[in-house]
Amino acid sequence: MRIVLLGAPGAGKGTQAKKLIDKYGIPQISTGDILRQNVAEGTPLGKEAKSYMDKGELVPDRVVLGLVEDRLKKDDCKKGYILDGFPRNTKQAEELDKMLASLDMSLTAALSVDVPFEDLMKRLTGRRTCKACGQMFNIYFNAPKKEGVCDKCGKELFQRDDDKEATIKKRLEVYNAQTAPLMDYYGKKGMVKSVQGTGSIDDIFKKVCEVLGLK
Ligand code: AP5
Ligand code: MG
Repeated sequence: MRIVLLGAPGAGKGTQAKKLIDKYGIPQISTGDILRQNVAEGTPLGKEAKSYMDKGELVPDRVVLGLVEDRLKKDDCKKGYILDGFPRNTKQAEELDKMLASLDMSLTAALSVDVPFEDLMKRLTGRRTCKACGQMFNIYFNAPKKEGVCDKCGKELFQRDDDKEATIKKRLEVYNAQTAPLMDYYGKKGMVKSVQGTGSIDDIFKKVCEVLGLK
């Protein structure tokens, strides 16, 4: 399985990716997670990325492309990978194609998780993420059993800096302008598999496995 996850901010890309990891042991490469880790560690890359992320804008392509290439070369990607949040625009998609051709690990599908735009704001403002294991919760839709504490590992939950209403609006605009055209990019290659991203997380995961032809 070598897939790209497509979908708006809040569509549930990360949520479904975590379920694919748990069931199939395939690594998730989330550029958002890698960038946030760099921000948290205060690396030079993190300092540069933060100024874009806080505004809801995309981090420059040169920064992200280097990160992805390094990650794809790691041994665990030999058994497959789930790209989450990358590519984010046509330039990144073209560069990814070149990168994968040279590594001889081309994509098997682009999985689109489709959620109505009006649902996304509540999903994002309500999201809480575990500091330790990265598990996502939602105070409106799938609340943790104990407020502020991860059900999975018992550590503290936090709210992402870019999950504020004004920043979310900008992220959704950027998505429409720069990322949504990737549906066409992969559509023309006959690679898009779509699932409705509304309903229970487990039901969506069943549909994900079905369209990807997984057992
Ligand atoms: P990134 O981290 O990629 O964020 P995003 O694309 O905005 O997507 P999200 O992570 O917000 O949403 P998701 O689809 O993963 O949803 P989730 O599963 O968490 O990027 C952040 C920033 O980093 C960008 O703005 C940019 O600055 C930078 N960046 C990253 N990659 C880049 C790149 N390639 N190039 C340039 N810049 C880049 O779910 C959301 C919530 O909904 C959760 O609370 C979850 O519990 C809940 N939920 C999930 N499924 C359901 C359901 N079925 N029903 C109800 N609630 C649900
Ligand atoms: Mg995510």
